[in-house]
Amino acid sequence: MKILVTGGTGYIGSHTCVELLKNGYEVVIVDNLYNSSVEILDKIEKITGIKPVFYQTDILDKEGLEKVFTENKIDAVIHFAGYKAVGESVAKPLTYYENNISGSINLYQLMKKYCVNSLVFSSSATVYGDDFEVPFKEEYGLGTTTNPYGTSKKMNEMIITDMSKADPELSCVLLRYFNPIGAHESGLIGEIPNGIPNNLVPYIAQVVSGQRGFLRIWGNDYDTPDGTGVRDYIHVVDLARAHVKAIDYAKEHKGTEVINIGTGKGYSVMEVLHAYEKACGKKIPYQIMERRPGDIATCYADTEKAEKLLNFKAEYNIDRMCEDSYRFTVMQSK
Ligand code: NAD
Ligand code: UD1
Repeated sequence: MKILVTGGTGYIGSHTCVELLKNGYEVVIVDNLYNSSVEILDKIEKITGIKPVFYQTDILDKEGLEKVFTENKIDAVIHFAGYKAVGESVAKPLTYYENNISGSINLYQLMKKYCVNSLVFSSSATVYGDDFEVPFKEEYGLGTTTNPYGTSKKMNEMIITDMSKADPELSCVLLRYFNPIGAHESGLIGEIPNGIPNNLVPYIAQVVSGQRGFLRIWGNDYDTPDGTGVRDYIHVVDLARAHVKAIDYAKEHKGTEVINIGTGKGYSVMEVLHAYEKACGKKIPYQIMERRPGDIATCYADTEKAEKLLNFKAEYNIDRMCEDSYRFTVMQSK
């Protein structure tokens, strides 16, 4: 079975390609290398023994994208390609909507034209907004998003749901990721942030490697056990495994399903910091700052639906996530 992976050289995409290849799927990657590099293909080959077919193509280039469909008999699509920086999306909403919405529509139109009926889409827990009580359940539906990035995820969910209502042959799985962190155990692939990291673990990794002086903790006066924000961190390899399960599910089921992918357990910023200190064997300097605008106190997933429908349960704990992140950081600096 041949899977088209858009954004397949990116952070989550590269780990997913590894898991797909390990499970006997053929992989065709489309990526414009905006936020990744061609060397990732060699790393995937080093891990799996297989080099995926690769097109350096922008999903906004519909003609270029069509070539991928004419040259390959695609059975299913996993759609990761998109921009993901929350702050940047507020400053450049049209750029975000063009890439994340127009690019996606190009892809969905070509899927229709070439009768590709299975789609797994990268959504985010951000679509819950701060409207609901934790643990976030899929049945809550879509909340009020607070930035164009989040809104682009919500709009994609709505578009895919409408497509699926209009075409009963479609099988779509919308995966709402919680907070993916960590790296492959080989240390060969992981997250390489573009500029100053916005997310917690990439920032900690840069403090540990000496690129940044200290971690800025965005508030310690939340209504949480230690006052710092609580999130559902999930190992990127667990998340990648969930995509293989979603592809398997889409093979057997028509319609659209929204499924949370998290561990169901929340950790505070201080707990993550301590787990990372354990992994790297040194103290990590930090300072408490004001709250970051737009942050919520606590976010974690209800994981029952993922267990029931996909038979998916995350395996790795926070210590392992930090150990793998640290190994990747060390190997990157060599
Ligand atoms: P990433 O930036 O590492 O990967 C995205 C890839 O898409 C990159 O390789 C980039 O070059 C490519 N790309 C972007 N625009 C493109 C275009 N127009 N045409 C072709 N390729 C393009 O990001 P990631 O962390 O791997 O995230 C993958 C997906 O998951 C994204 O859609 C993101 O919004 C979503 N997501 C990520 C997180 C997270 O915390 N990392 C959380 C929830 C959802
Ligand atoms: C952020 C995005 C969210 C996106 C998600 C995954 C915002 C407001 N939200 O969410 O839309 O889906 O990333 O990409 O940007 N923290 C610090 N210091 C730091 C960085 C983070 O204390 O330098 C804290 C945050 O306040 C939060 C926790 O660490 O409590 C996790 O932050 P982060 O990794 O940015 O993820 P989210 O806030 O869940």
